[in-house]
Amino acid sequence: MSTVGKPYHWWQTGVVYQIYPRSFQDSNGDGIGDLAGIILRMDYLKDTLGVDAIWLSPFYPSPMVDFGYDIADYCDVDPMFGDLATFDRLVAEAHRRGLKVIVDYVPNHTSDQHAWFVESRASRQSPKREWYIWRDPKPDGSPPNNWGGFFGGPAWTLDPATGQYYLHQFVPEQPELNWRNPEVVRAMLDVLRFWMKRGVDGFRMDVVGLLIKDAELRDNPPNPNAPAGLPPNDIFGRQLHTYSEDQDEVHDLIRQIRCTLDEFPDRVGIGELWGDLPRWVKYYGENGDELQLPFNFRLIHLPWKAEALQASVDALEAALPPFGWPNYVLSNHDQARFASRCGGQAQARVAAMLLLSLRGTPTVYYGDELGLENGVIPPHKIQDPQGVNLGAHRTRDVARTPMQWDARPQAGFSSVEPWLPVTSDFEVRNVAAQLQDPSSVLTLYRRLIAVRRGSRALQVGSYRPLEAGAPGVFAFVREADGERVLAALNFNGEPVQVAFPGFGAGQILVSTSGREGEVAPADLTLAPHEGLLMTL
Ligand code: GLC
Ligand code: CA
Repeated sequence: MSTVGKPYHWWQTGVVYQIYPRSFQDSNGDGIGDLAGIILRMDYLKDTLGVDAIWLSPFYPSPMVDFGYDIADYCDVDPMFGDLATFDRLVAEAHRRGLKVIVDYVPNHTSDQHAWFVESRASRQSPKREWYIWRDPKPDGSPPNNWGGFFGGPAWTLDPATGQYYLHQFVPEQPELNWRNPEVVRAMLDVLRFWMKRGVDGFRMDVVGLLIKDAELRDNPPNPNAPAGLPPNDIFGRQLHTYSEDQDEVHDLIRQIRCTLDEFPDRVGIGELWGDLPRWVKYYGENGDELQLPFNFRLIHLPWKAEALQASVDALEAALPPFGWPNYVLSNHDQARFASRCGGQAQARVAAMLLLSLRGTPTVYYGDELGLENGVIPPHKIQDPQGVNLGAHRTRDVARTPMQWDARPQAGFSSVEPWLPVTSDFEVRNVAAQLQDPSSVLTLYRRLIAVRRGSRALQVGSYRPLEAGAPGVFAFVREADGERVLAALNFNGEPVQVAFPGFGAGQILVSTSGREGEVAPADLTLAPHEGLLMTL
């Protein structure tokens, strides 16, 4: 595939790094990470790791019932994280280094403390009443429909003062905005403009598939494949979300959002979208007029097996419209830590190579570059409402523990006990130690990111799967402008013999086992859990 002269956008060629601000770096000794802390670590992001863009989870004023995803003011910074001046400094420090800044946009719901909701709930005649979704109870007093919330319980709460229910598919403190109301649309598009004027380069958009609900708010049908053993309050888990997600009318709104982004040069819209492939692919728009990057979470829920992963990648490649740019994610603040999910450190290294060599924009979750594993959170320290309501095994706190910078107490994250405990391995698993260790996972990430940056084939080249002739191996070729890179990933715990005929000698770019030199693709032995990137 010739890419010569083709202009690519930064969000196509770059590597995105997700920061959970509460847990990255505390600068003022209150045990909670903050914006000034992120500024302190900017050189790590740019020079040490070498990423191109950072995405910050919410730092807006919030009662923190859902740790910032319940926003009380879209256009300010929570004092816990800093202030607007600090944010401006963060953008300036990032841009000075050539780093792009993506912020979280949470359009589906506000906090119940947002001035809009306070006004909306004040009376049925309130001018903001129709900014949220209010409905009368059924004649027997029960909620307007059967929908359940993601974090357990019904999706409706009765407001006794005005006698109506309001909709919230997360915690009751997250009332949902009524995007069928043009005033809401206008106000929310202005939020995008507010941040773009401050220099923000893009948005990660929270649950955008939920913005529009069925016009009649019909009952959701039961899910015949609901897993057994769900807690009684998990109404959501027992339903299909036929009328609450991915309604056709949502695409009009996404196009309006995209038009707003396009008022500013080269801004990116990334959507949190969970639907199946046919529903998901629609969010690119019919002519690329919706989101540039609907997040692709497919690798997250698959068994960590070469065949399943390859089938998913191939299906994605086949489903993408010609203008659709792929992207891959292995973890985020809502999932268990990747190294714990995929079965250990050796697999996590192969995973890093996969993420950073597939065709499409990779997003790395903070701490994954150290191979961080699930934190152990004592039951009385569980903070996440999902864990509190649906059981300790569902708590997302495990993936939100403090970043591990060095072997000092609190891992260099804070001078006091942090809001979540530091993982017990921090004395050995930290940035400072791994920088000294040529075989560390951090060294591998740095190398993979640097190699990707230097390779047109890896950044923008075509993708072609290869038959390895052995089970448990995922292999593919990336190619651009005469440069060819072959990736061969052994998911087996044993060595494996593979053959890729038709290629001349390969020069190893990166091996997860540290091997160097020349290899013959036609007759190749991969070490257990070895991933190999070679130029041909
Ligand atoms: C998204 C966020 C998650 C949050 C939820 C409600 O799924 O990633 O952290 O709890 O939306 O905003
Ligand atoms: Ca702090």
